[in-house]
Amino acid sequence: MTKQAIGMIDSGVGGLTVMKEAMKLIPNESFYYLGDTARCPYGPRPLEEVKEFTWQMAEFLMEKNIKMLVIACNTATAAALEFLQENLPIPVVGVIQSGSQAAAGTTQAKRIGILGTEGTVKSDVYPRSIHKEDETIEVFSLACPPFVPLVENNTYDGEEAKKVVADTLLPLKDKQLDTVVLGCTHYPILRPLIQEALGRNVQLVDAGAETVKTVKQLLGELNIAANPLGGKPEWKFFTTGAAQPFKELAEQWLEEQDLNVQHIELGEE
Ligand code: DGL
Repeated sequence: MTKQAIGMIDSGVGGLTVMKEAMKLIPNESFYYLGDTARCPYGPRPLEEVKEFTWQMAEFLMEKNIKMLVIACNTATAAALEFLQENLPIPVVGVIQSGSQAAAGTTQAKRIGILGTEGTVKSDVYPRSIHKEDETIEVFSLACPPFVPLVENNTYDGEEAKKVVADTLLPLKDKQLDTVVLGCTHYPILRPLIQEALGRNVQLVDAGAETVKTVKQLLGELNIAANPLGGKPEWKFFTTGAAQPFKELAEQWLEEQDLNVQHIELGEE
């Protein structure tokens, strides 16, 4: 058993949807969360650049003596998971494998849609990962560039957001999908709008939430879970953007008060 924190990284606030699931499923664990808000979105950036930024985030949290790193970002997972697994001395978990396995286990029609950033879609990591589970499944990937700004700018409520989501998802409407993966950790915030646009018959798979189940299992297997009697866990938040708006959003989504949020600098931007 170990009291060290689990590190979580994302391009911004999206990984907080993973953190929220983690706080429910593994409530004794301490978490250090880092959002690279100043350089968000990662989606349109070249994957090599995302890999470099992800490495910088990992290095920052390694200095804080984390026991495990969760890449709570699909784009960063697509760009950097293997590199981080090869170069860090701690277990590193991405969000794509668990999401793929859950989706492959859910679809009856063997037709899965993937919603993600341009980077995630371009990387082709989801189709490859799903085909490892079952190569007969047809995968339809759709990049949804307008979604992350809606979430980061806190404009995900209301008629305008509803229209943006419905218009963006139109290319998937006639694909007879029964399962769609929320392949970006910002998207669970838009879940009601996505569900409405795709229809009630489509099962949405939250890749981040699925990953938290994997994290819990891994903590047990490696015998590094926190001791349930070890006292109150510690949650710390770091952002490369302004601390105050991050804090307000995090407190609203996580339904917590007085979160410890600090601004930090990474790289040169
Ligand atoms: N939340 C991220 C993901 O899961 C990336 C969003 C972005 O920065 O474009 O892909």
